[in-house]
Amino acid sequence: MTEAREDHVVTQQPTPKEAPGPQGSVLFGALSEFKKDTLRLLVELRRQYGGVSRMKMGPYLVHQVTSPEAVKHVLQDNPRNYVRGRFYRGFTLFFGRGMLTTDGPEWKARRAVSQPFFHKPRLRAGAPVITDTVGQLFDKWDGVADRGEQLDITDDMMWVAMGVLGRLLYGVDLRDYAERLLPSVRFSLKAMIITGEVKQMLPKWIPTRYQRELKRHQAVLNGVMDEIIDLHRAGGGSPDSVVTALLNGQHAEGRPFTQREIRAELKTLFLAGHETTGCALTWTLYAVSQHADVRRRLEAELAEVLDGRAPTADDLADLPYLRQVVDETLRMYPPIWLFPRDTVADDVIAGYHVPAGTTVLIPPYAAHHDPEHWPNPEAFDPERFCPARKAPDRYAYFPFGGGNRKCIGMDLALLELQLVVAMVVQRYRLDLAGGNPVRAAALVSLRPQPQVMMAVHRRKS
Ligand code: HEM
Repeated sequence: MTEAREDHVVTQQPTPKEAPGPQGSVLFGALSEFKKDTLRLLVELRRQYGGVSRMKMGPYLVHQVTSPEAVKHVLQDNPRNYVRGRFYRGFTLFFGRGMLTTDGPEWKARRAVSQPFFHKPRLRAGAPVITDTVGQLFDKWDGVADRGEQLDITDDMMWVAMGVLGRLLYGVDLRDYAERLLPSVRFSLKAMIITGEVKQMLPKWIPTRYQRELKRHQAVLNGVMDEIIDLHRAGGGSPDSVVTALLNGQHAEGRPFTQREIRAELKTLFLAGHETTGCALTWTLYAVSQHADVRRRLEAELAEVLDGRAPTADDLADLPYLRQVVDETLRMYPPIWLFPRDTVADDVIAGYHVPAGTTVLIPPYAAHHDPEHWPNPEAFDPERFCPARKAPDRYAYFPFGGGNRKCIGMDLALLELQLVVAMVVQRYRLDLAGGNPVRAAALVSLRPQPQVMMAVHRRKS
């Protein structure tokens, strides 16, 4: 605590006051009617109490921060005072102790090993892996289109994201392991919320067999990661992969990473990377299918710039509307809809006192749906991100977080989103199957539910 105080940026406030918020517990008190709709709860808290609100969640004192000033304070101005904390602890059940769940030197050593794999020039060089993976998807979708069938695009977008991630980072095709991995991923992403501290935000009727099942699914994930590590140890892996870098990497004091630590890192990149990107891809294609004007404008831009050929990373600078569509999707449906921190020492956030050892929740979803910064927030409108318009406040829009813990995969995700969406929209028109209302479910990521059944039509051109 002393160390954090040394670097602590003190916000001078004469008399920091308590933030406004609901009386009692938001789970057991006046707002209990919202407990089954977490997203609405977050938006409603912001609407009623503003950009910093204070509440009890079960036994915990929690602040929700959504105003740009408050979010910037936590992520960028005073990050040393904010650690992963109790809500993140539940994630270790599934991610292990890796880059996402650790702090300080432990985190730094892990991030340093993976960082070079996310540098822009390296990612751009890997763009053909993305377009090649989409080509493989088209082999399937052409058949679906010819037969007039429908499919759930969520599964296929996860498949694309998994294929890209495995080939670019691990030098192996993770889709070879998909049959084993996917049921465990699906189960665990739900189970983690229940077994983690965030369970307080969910109903209490969850059956406890989830806990037992979790162990079984954890073993599947660990087993696959161990196989990939062992392949590399035996000299059969790519010399230019994150796995090799981790095997050769070390902590600050020179200690090599253990098998368990390497496994946690691989699980972290896999889980943090493929589910989020898969959701973002699905939401983007869904949004385009729902807005004919957006679709037509996107089709026109793609036709003009690409004239039917596959896009490259270099083309993206000439496709500004494509980027606007992706940005607006990440505003409306941020795959990471909330992330938590715990305070080390007392702090003052935007004039409000926040005690040491309490939790701060940062929900991109509520910030991105704040009408003060995003007029008519429920409307899907890529024009908000038109380069000619004033850019949104940096911390009114943060689908990838911010500060030193900003998403390591941001540039990969954005590259992938633009290339995949461009290729799909060039080739197909997707129509949502009738009677299939899609809603956003606040799981670990913001999942479209129950599924996104689409009819796939080949475009004439
Ligand atoms: C649209 C896709 C994605 C979204 C919306 C997203 C969102 C985020 C957010 C909001 C955070 C910050 C969490 C916090 O501060 O507590 C984060 C962190 C992280 N993301 Fe992503 N992410 C995406 C894709 C990826 C990809 C493709 C990878 C890797 C292949 C990845 C790996 C990570 C990791 C390892 C962290 C932890 C970084 C650290 O703490 O140093 N993400 N992501």
